[in-house]
Amino acid sequence: EKGGHDYFMLKEIAEQPKAVADTLLGRIDGAGSLRLDEVRIPVGVLRQVDKVVIVACGTAFHAGLIAKYAIEHWTRIPCEVELASEFRYRDPILDQQTLVIAVSQSGETMDTLMALRHAREQGSKVLAICNTNGSTIPRESDAVLYTHAGPEVAVASTKAFLTQLVACYLVALYLGQVRGTKFADEIRDVVRDLSRMPGAVERVLGTMGPVRELARSLAGKGTVLFLGRHVGYPVALEGALKLKELAYMHAEGFAAGELKHGPIALIEEDLPVVVVVPSPRGRSVLHDKIVSNIQEIRARGARTIVIAEEGDEAVVPYADHLVRVPVTPTLLQPLVATVPLQVFACELATARGNEVDQPRNLAKSVTVE
Ligand code: M6R
Repeated sequence: EKGGHDYFMLKEIAEQPKAVADTLLGRIDGAGSLRLDEVRIPVGVLRQVDKVVIVACGTAFHAGLIAKYAIEHWTRIPCEVELASEFRYRDPILDQQTLVIAVSQSGETMDTLMALRHAREQGSKVLAICNTNGSTIPRESDAVLYTHAGPEVAVASTKAFLTQLVACYLVALYLGQVRGTKFADEIRDVVRDLSRMPGAVERVLGTMGPVRELARSLAGKGTVLFLGRHVGYPVALEGALKLKELAYMHAEGFAAGELKHGPIALIEEDLPVVVVVPSPRGRSVLHDKIVSNIQEIRARGARTIVIAEEGDEAVVPYADHLVRVPVTPTLLQPLVATVPLQVFACELATARGNEVDQPRNLAKSVTVE
């Protein structure tokens, strides 16, 4: 049942190209337009939306953080992302023009369910992004866009995360389409780029040998830090969460720009620091800033593990370990940049003798608040 893999997690990591392809399947027509008939919220209502609020927990929350960049960029609708467990206790400002998106693999997470109930009580429309047919969250929402990752058994979420990202991109593009934003041309390009992502994820999976080897060499470490900017920041948070869950190590993700506001004090000789580097094309300012962040931490002794696009030569002199990912538009990079972090955490957990599919103290779906 593990398809020849030692763990469900490895099987699910390997299934990601298919999961991404399946989640795109039938949702983009031949002309490059989004066909999201499942989103039964009337187009007239979607045109009136003046704020998007994403609620989710854990890994799904990280997908939401990435979605914010895409939604705001492609639709110019303000978007907030909030941990579902915090949401309703702060009396959030919601009305009929707010679209709430609840992201959940299981569809049974109590915190997320309570958040969406609260949103509907305030008159907001709720769209669920969910991987489990007929579960409670989609049943209680106004509409659902299913992710087609297939059953995810390992407690640590992998393929569900990538498909949540795809679903979020599709929703963002769809909102852009129904509202006719001035990014129409860009949207067509993104749709084309999205259809190439299953192949890109496949390529990353084919190059993971050195990442595994590196992970094993770090099994005795106590701490690993993760840095990113822009969409690389939530990817860093996700990399740290995977490592906590699986390797039981102290792991933290930071926005690289925050380094000098505190975290840089943590850098010491030989501390492993994973840095997610955005594409040097397009937003080159971002790229240059993170290259100087890598220099700063390396000058203080950090062991730098750099995840950067193929052909990005600027990072080479400062990378103790370099992990290449295919060239993608910046907003889509999380689909490839997350994969090495999943493999890294899984391998570290194995090297430390931990139970990969069923980490201590954790449950696959958290049905209590
Ligand atoms: O089923 P959900 O997507 O609602 O679950 C949310 C979190 O509990 C989940 O993502 C958790 O953080 C995972 N164990 C992360 O790997």
